Parts: sequence; C-alpha cells; structure tokens
Amino acid sequence: MIKRKIIFDCDPGHDDIFAILFALAHPERFEILGFTTVAGNQTLEKVSNNLANVLDYLHISLPIYKGYDKAITKPLEVQPQAHGESGMDGPVFIEKNHHFQMKHAIEFYKEMLEVHDKITIVAIGPLTNIALMIKTYPHLCHKIECISCMGGGIAEGNIQKRSEFNIYHDPEAAKIVFESGVPIVLSPLEVCIKGSITFKEMEAFHHNHSVSKLVYDLFSFYSKYSKEHNFSSSPIFDVCPIYYLYKPELFKGFNANVYIELNGNYTQGMTITEKCEKSQTRVLYDVDRKTFIDDFTESIFELDRKVII
Ligand code: BDR
Ligand code: CA
Repeated sequence: MIKRKIIFDCDPGHDDIFAILFALAHPERFEILGFTTVAGNQTLEKVSNNLANVLDYLHISLPIYKGYDKAITKPLEVQPQAHGESGMDGPVFIEKNHHFQMKHAIEFYKEMLEVHDKITIVAIGPLTNIALMIKTYPHLCHKIECISCMGGGIAEGNIQKRSEFNIYHDPEAAKIVFESGVPIVLSPLEVCIKGSITFKEMEAFHHNHSVSKLVYDLFSFYSKYSKEHNFSSSPIFDVCPIYYLYKPELFKGFNANVYIELNGNYTQGMTITEKCEKSQTRVLYDVDRKTFIDDFTESIFELDRKVII
C-alpha cells in the first residue's frame, strides 16, 4: 500500500474535522505534511482557530498555514446556518492564542512541491488557495499527484437549487482548478449524500473517550440542520475525498469534463459534468455506505486508543 503525502486545504467546519480525524487515524496510509486554511464556512480567522483548537485538544502539532480570507472576486458569505457562529459550534475549547505559521498557504505549497516528488491535496473548502497557487506556480503543478476535493453536484445543489457551497463560494477559483489539467477526483453532493450517517449511528460516539466525545459534540450541533429538515441522517461531505484515497474500490464514478457556471442568477457555482473517458477528472456518484460509516466509526475509536488527553 502506498503512503501518500497529503496537505489538507480546509475551512473547519464540523465535517472538515471528521475528514482530518480520519486521516490522523491512518498514519500507515497518510503522511500529513500540514494544513492550509481558507475562508468559507466562516471567516479565515475563525476556521483557522477551529482547526488549531482541535489539534491542540489532540496534542498534535502539525503546521497550519493561513490562506485567503475571501474568494477571488466575490465578497465573503459565511455559513452560520450549517456550522454556527464559530464555524464549528458544539464542542467548547479553552480559549488560547494559537501559533500559526508565518508563511502564506501558497508559499507552503510551493515549498512542499519543490521538495517532494508527489503531493496529494485534499481540498475540502472553497478552492481559492489551490487556484491561486496553480496560477502563481504553474511550473510546479506536475508534482500534484491528485486533488481529491469535495464540491459541486451532478444534479444536486445545497446553497442554491443547483449549486454546492464550496464551488458557489468561489466559482472563479473552481474554474481555474478544473481547467488546470491537474488530476482531480471530485466528491460532489450525490456521493456525499449516499454516504450519509444516520442519527442512530452517531450515537456510537456517545461516551467519554476523548476523540469520540469531540465527534459526538460536533454531531450534536451538525445534525441539527438535518433534523430540522426532517431527514434521518446527515452527509459527512468532507470525509468522502479522504476516504476515496483510502478505499477507492468502494466508490463508483465516471470521467468527465467539469465546467463551472460563473454568473447565472439561479445557477452561480453550478458544476456541469460532461462524460469524457479521456478527462483527468473523475466524478464520484456512489459509495458502499455501510463500509464507509463502519470504517469512519472504527477510525475514531482507533484514535481514542491512540490519543491520550
Ligand atoms: C461543503 O460545504 C461546507 O459547509 C462543508 O464543510 C463542505 O465542505 C458541503 O457543501
Ligand atoms: Ca469544508
């Protein structure tokens, strides 16, 4: 089994943290080089603090590089309805002044791409950092093995009828990334919805072990939105791209060119997928839900055993 060198580009965000916890539970498969943060679910300040709070809670010291605090052209539009005022409501952390790296996120990418043969980017927020890194350092793009990202929909939308939040937040960035020629695996809304966790399955985390407690507290807030809308489960969107890198054989997908709608009144940020065998982009639409949720749950329990808080 290959061990991938990965960088998370994220906007934590409850489900961003679930994805990061999954990777931390599998050091045999993922070497996390660091994290870059981007404005999305909440302001850059808040999402960076959320991530730092979690790493601190777990006693994990991995570098966090802040990236862009808004989209390339659009003003910032955060998501308190899904993630709360803090961007990650639910767990309570001791207030601290965190130490962030001085370098900008895109300088971290430059440095890592220069020193490593291949890097995989797990992009689980708006694509602003990735797009501007690609524009600034195009000569390093061949070192990106793959961008496994959450965003868009084949026919679904969650922020507008046909637009998904990460892409809608910064459509210009998404267009740059999807036109870059870098290999991409896209986890759109469809595959994330297929992989939803039921409210009953969330109860597995209801005990006092350190990481499970954090996950349970995160779900307590995160599931509210689905409960209010009378669903029986919640998608854990951002876990799909990292889980794909772990067990790709459990997913179904097709190769496609992905076009981004920049301007529509009702469709800004919509992803248009056109099947094309030769495309470097793979679009996922299905996952073996039961194994996905079992593996996610077991990974959190594995962290409970490893992390002493
Ligand atoms: C995406 O938007 C964010 O709210 C989630 O963290 C996920 O990355 C889902 O549309
Ligand atoms: Ca996210």
